[in-house]
Amino acid sequence: MNYTVVIPAAGQGKRMNAGKNKQWIELDGKPLIAHTMTVFEEDPWCEKMILSINEKEQSLFQELVSKGRFQKQVQLVAGGAERQHSVHEGLKAASDAELVLIHDGARPFVEQERIHELVKKAMETGAAILAVPLKDTVKKGSNGIVDETVDRASLWAVQTPQAFRLPIVLDAHETAAKRKDLGTDDASLVENMGHPVSIVEGDYTNIKLTTVHDILFAKAILAERKRK
Ligand code: CTP
Ligand code: MG
Repeated sequence: MNYTVVIPAAGQGKRMNAGKNKQWIELDGKPLIAHTMTVFEEDPWCEKMILSINEKEQSLFQELVSKGRFQKQVQLVAGGAERQHSVHEGLKAASDAELVLIHDGARPFVEQERIHELVKKAMETGAAILAVPLKDTVKKGSNGIVDETVDRASLWAVQTPQAFRLPIVLDAHETAAKRKDLGTDDASLVENMGHPVSIVEGDYTNIKLTTVHDILFAKAILAERKRK
């Protein structure tokens, strides 16, 4: 069950406050984005990686790709101002793929077993996402007062990869672009088209490195994996 993965990596990492795109933060002597690419390099089901990048960082990425000596085909495309635009540009380059995965460059710890469960589900239903049950109690509030406590049983914290048959997600992105809609993830654009999206339960370790605290978690996850 082969797939192409689109990896948006064209952000600025503002919440990380590292003074640079967080993809270049080093973990175990290797940039974050290289950790993420290694997951797909090692997955026999992955045929091709498409990275959406900031054109200003083109030479950095080219160097990463040539030094990485990847067996898989790696294509660099210019991203856009919002994540959704970067993903859309990546999808346009995925023309010959049947199934496409979209995965944050800043999410290096996704496990192959989970990717395969996701791929199988998306082949079946056309659209599937990884998500974990919410751990915290969630409340709605305004002006510092609780309005209501939301029933947690039906709530999921959504991750990537998100997997789709290419025409479904491409159509959703094209429609969103025409309507100037911005969704918070790719699945929401597919949902807006009326297409059902399946949930595959993932792992709590599949974190996205967003703020500086996530570096602490990342180091702990790496240390734990080395011990095993
Ligand atoms: N991304 C992208 N193009 C953008 C914005 C984000 O390709 N215009 C990518 C990021 O590089 C990241 C992924 O989308 O791999 C998830 O986004 P996020 O965690 O929000 O990263 P940043 O946008 O870089 O961080 P911040 O929002 O804190 O600035
Ligand atoms: Mg962002």
